[in-house]
Amino acid sequence: MSRWGGRLSQDIHQASLMAWFAEHQRDLPWRNTKDPWPILLSEILLQQTQVSRGIVFWQRLFERYPTVQDMAVSTEEEVLLLWQGAGYYSRARRLFQLAKLVCAPISEGGYNGHLPVTGAGLQSLPGIGPYTAAAVASIAHGESIACVDGNVRRVMARQMANATPTTKEVQEWADTVLWTKDAGNWNQAVMELGATVCTPQKPRCGGCPIASSCEGASSPLRFPAPKVRAKKRLDLMCIVLLDPDGRPHLVQRGNDGILASMWGPQMAEQLDVTSYEYVGEVHHVLSHRDLHVRIWKGSIDQGMDEGNVPLSSLDQKVLKRVREN
Ligand code: ADE
Repeated sequence: MSRWGGRLSQDIHQASLMAWFAEHQRDLPWRNTKDPWPILLSEILLQQTQVSRGIVFWQRLFERYPTVQDMAVSTEEEVLLLWQGAGYYSRARRLFQLAKLVCAPISEGGYNGHLPVTGAGLQSLPGIGPYTAAAVASIAHGESIACVDGNVRRVMARQMANATPTTKEVQEWADTVLWTKDAGNWNQAVMELGATVCTPQKPRCGGCPIASSCEGASSPLRFPAPKVRAKKRLDLMCIVLLDPDGRPHLVQRGNDGILASMWGPQMAEQLDVTSYEYVGEVHHVLSHRDLHVRIWKGSIDQGMDEGNVPLSSLDQKVLKRVREN
């Protein structure tokens, strides 16, 4: 058992946290199953997407793809279409690759349609990092493996009054406090506490089941110290061509970059816009990028039906801006 600042981190009252979780956990649709596929889908969607928004996309995807096989025989385009609006589209593309790989025969390096059952096995799949592997292996199969995400980091930082915990320190803490009798619910309980009680801006320490072991409770906002990571500004140019019925000309983007494989009007850092009319600028904020898109418009004989292809929220914003013009 490791020591933190002279006291055992397992002083945390685990039973209190588990009892709190049993009573207060949010009713999330993927919590009613032990099937690893819907659990995997939820964990991938919840990376960089809030639970309230994630639910809608999870329902849409799980209805269309109730099994990994259903996704494997679909197309990347359809997966992207269903993912439309959830952002971070590379997650969708990697999940589709994962589904195809898992459903390939073992003789071709696949898994005959069965997701690996261990954290180590899951982590060897495309798009699955240590967090997702630990979440799925513990929740679906009860493997004793601790999850570390931003919520866990914040709970740890406050419990230990450590303003700048390293990744290794957070992992060691999570490994030490892991309640191995029910690792899946334990992991979810720590994350749930971070998401609903031990929140970044307004922690509700009065309602916290492990406040008695929390060294940071008297000044929780000091822990963890904010990470100073300036968003990168990206300036883009965009040409929207509309036909006489207002239907846009759309192209599918290449395999790289933030909007990889999505459809949209022509957009790049440099475009020749000499023969087009300037419309204005839209601003779009992603977690690590600040996008400024200047828009020009022109005409074309025949556009296309934008309902049939995956469009990002940014592209929808651009088209709306042009139509309002
Ligand atoms: N955030 C991501 N996955 C979660 C889960 N399974 N429970 C609570 N919060 C989460």
